[in-house]
Amino acid sequence: MKILDGKKLSQEIKAELKTEVLGLKKQGIFPGLAVIIVGNNSASEIYVKNKKQACEEVGIYSEIYKLEEKISQISLLALVEKLNSNEKIHGILVQLPLPTHIEKEKIISAISPKKDVDCFHPENIGKVFLGQEIFPPCTPAGILEILKRSEIEITGKDIVIVGRSNIVGKPLALMMINEGATVTVCHSKTINLKEKCLGADILVSAVGYAGLITKDMIKQGAVVIDVGMNRNDEGKLTGDVDFLEVSKIASAITPVPGGVGPMTIAMLLKNTLRASKTVSK
Ligand code: GUN
Repeated sequence: MKILDGKKLSQEIKAELKTEVLGLKKQGIFPGLAVIIVGNNSASEIYVKNKKQACEEVGIYSEIYKLEEKISQISLLALVEKLNSNEKIHGILVQLPLPTHIEKEKIISAISPKKDVDCFHPENIGKVFLGQEIFPPCTPAGILEILKRSEIEITGKDIVIVGRSNIVGKPLALMMINEGATVTVCHSKTINLKEKCLGADILVSAVGYAGLITKDMIKQGAVVIDVGMNRNDEGKLTGDVDFLEVSKIASAITPVPGGVGPMTIAMLLKNTLRASKTVSK
């Protein structure tokens, strides 16, 4: 059984990106990322801190905007507009979730598609559907990168994705179909989840429910990718998968923490470099 070490792979990618940033700076391109966080969600605060630190590691300029929970939608839109025309900023990321008085869709649609390094804008997610993406969504791209760098083929494979979110499940399904996989997407209304999971050569769980995926749901030798980020009673980070038991049956598995999470951030940095190259043209 192989542990798919996302932390190690992300360090390799960051080293590659660092070299690329040096090359860009020689051409007068200084990649910049703006991150907006609203309110005091502690998980979001950790994610944003990690993103800022990753930017520093590879030499990307970053600006963090920490806004009060009660900020108005108009003020938030005005900030996005300002960043859209800020030449130092090539990527804009609005950390989700947003407070309920703000219409998430309006904010996401206000981000210039050329700076939408999360790939949340309807235009960009439409391009994922068509297989024409400029910025692949970060978590799905991170999963594909783990598989690619671990030489795990997906073409022709039976893939089961548990979770149908706009950020992970749905775009990942499209991207895997575009790569020639046969994809089943399961969710909270799925009947016989266990049976469907047992058919998977590669099982991806992106639900956010600790202990959802147990060993009786895994085909011998399957690859298991855990996108879950759950806190247990002691505050420890755990995935959706019963790691100890499932790892006895799987041929390869991602741990939590240290699996998909660091790869998501590496893909965000990669998208920011891509954006800096296109915006600066
Ligand atoms: N909240 C949870 N995951 C993400 C992500 O990938 N991007 C943003 N912007 N917010 C998130």
